[in-house]
Amino acid sequence: MAFRSIKGTKDVLPADTHRWQHIESVVRSVFQRFNYKEIRTPLFEQTALFSRSIGELTDIVGKEMYTFEDRSGDRITLRPEGTASVIRAFIQNNLAEQLPLTKVYYIGPMFRQERPQAGRLRQFHQFGAEAIGSPCAEVDAEVIAMAIEVYRTLGLRQYSLKINSVGCEKCRPLYKVKLQEELRKIAPQLSADSQRRIDENPMRVLDSKDEQDQKLTADMPLINQFLCEECSLHFSDVQRMLESFGITYTVNGRLVRGLDYYTKTAFELTSTELGSQDALAGGGRYDLLAKELGGKQTPGVGFAAGIERLLMVLEKTGYPFADSDHPQVFIAAADDPARAWTIAETMRLRGAGIAAETDLLRRSLKAQMREADRQRALHVLVVGERELVEGKAALKSMQDGTSRMIPLDAIALALTDTST
Ligand code: HAM
Repeated sequence: MAFRSIKGTKDVLPADTHRWQHIESVVRSVFQRFNYKEIRTPLFEQTALFSRSIGELTDIVGKEMYTFEDRSGDRITLRPEGTASVIRAFIQNNLAEQLPLTKVYYIGPMFRQERPQAGRLRQFHQFGAEAIGSPCAEVDAEVIAMAIEVYRTLGLRQYSLKINSVGCEKCRPLYKVKLQEELRKIAPQLSADSQRRIDENPMRVLDSKDEQDQKLTADMPLINQFLCEECSLHFSDVQRMLESFGITYTVNGRLVRGLDYYTKTAFELTSTELGSQDALAGGGRYDLLAKELGGKQTPGVGFAAGIERLLMVLEKTGYPFADSDHPQVFIAAADDPARAWTIAETMRLRGAGIAAETDLLRRSLKAQMREADRQRALHVLVVGERELVEGKAALKSMQDGTSRMIPLDAIALALTDTST
């Protein structure tokens, strides 16, 4: 039986890679404009790094991590997200000593064993950024603005921004107790998942997708009514700055993200062009995370966005992706004696910086012409014994069908002469 890829993973095939490359290059150029530098961390880490960061009681840690014991008996996990690894690298490499504010970004695969469906994969790809070292609201606003700038650059309009403040270690415990009290009163009517969460993580109950849960919790107290002065001030600063950037948002007091490290700002960008998995991007502030991972108390804020989901939206809305690259010239052999020369000349042209292709299947001239067409080569040069003797051949432009004779010792020059 032939092998199949693992459920929830996808091949990006040659015909599609240019779309990925385009998104990646837009992401890099936007991030570069905001002065974020790329960081590349390993795809696997100690399991404890993720359970400590994301939270033992979250779905990600409890049900979704790809965890295994390696041959030396160490517990290893394929990264389910990027933030934990970035903070680990930040602490381990003393990045705080180099700059007061470390601004980094990453693009790459993440792994979560979720039930696959449209927009939900087991190996998916994120681009994300983290700004580590500032407690100030301007960084929260910058990070949100940068995520939006990626979508704006790609011409995407169908998204909405929801923001919330999830409080801090001072105000959140008081709120949790109050919420638990209220939730216990209606516990028997709640879904099994929500009942379990009352003790473990009551704020997630408000985020439940279950309709009955949503109705029952409609009038529950929300965290933003319990924020301490510092959190409340921070949250209004973030909003004021977003407004000054011309960014529209809604405050959603029920927004609680699926990772436990957040303090203060949490946000999500959703798209109506996506189905039930409608989150394009999510992020927030995590002022306690570096300390939790054994470093000095260092505030941070960041976000990550799904590339597959972005692609789904762009494809659905008919984004004009440019074509993938085509050979500048296809050199066809008109007869067998010319084959050795066409291959050697193709190599020479490539060495001279020209994207050149030739026939590697020893096909007839007719089949080579069909191939040049299929490859959408910009030019075709047909060379046989006679052309070799004469030292010139016809260079045909595949765009306008015109031909002109060029010397065989100056093909590169002729190609760079043409405006294409
Ligand atoms: P997250 O909300 O878990 O946050 O993931 C961010 C984005 O990754 C989601 O909005 C979604 O677009 C995409 N995504 C997540 N899971 C899947 C999946 N199974 N299949 C396809 N796409 C998926 C984080 O990962 C945090 N590290 C974000 C962050 C950075 N917070 C602070 N800094």
